[in-house]
Amino acid sequence: MLVCDCNDVTFDMIQEAVKKHGNNLDAIMEETEAGTTCECCLEEDCDKVDLALPLAIKKALQEIEI
Ligand code: FES
Repeated sequence: MLVCDCNDVTFDMIQEAVKKHGNNLDAIMEETEAGTTCECCLEEDCDKVDLALPLAIKKALQEIEI
């Protein structure tokens, strides 16, 4: 599942980053480079990706809590 088109970041990569950094957006962006180019995927309604970064972080956090 694609989270950032510019930098080829997948949901799996976001999950790994969330395990390390929680919901620290800056740290996740720094580690994965998601959201650091056109910034479209920082918006929930970005149509370039399957799951925009804020939604991917939310989903990863929910899955960790289960
Ligand atoms: S789609 Fe993520 S920075 Fe462009």
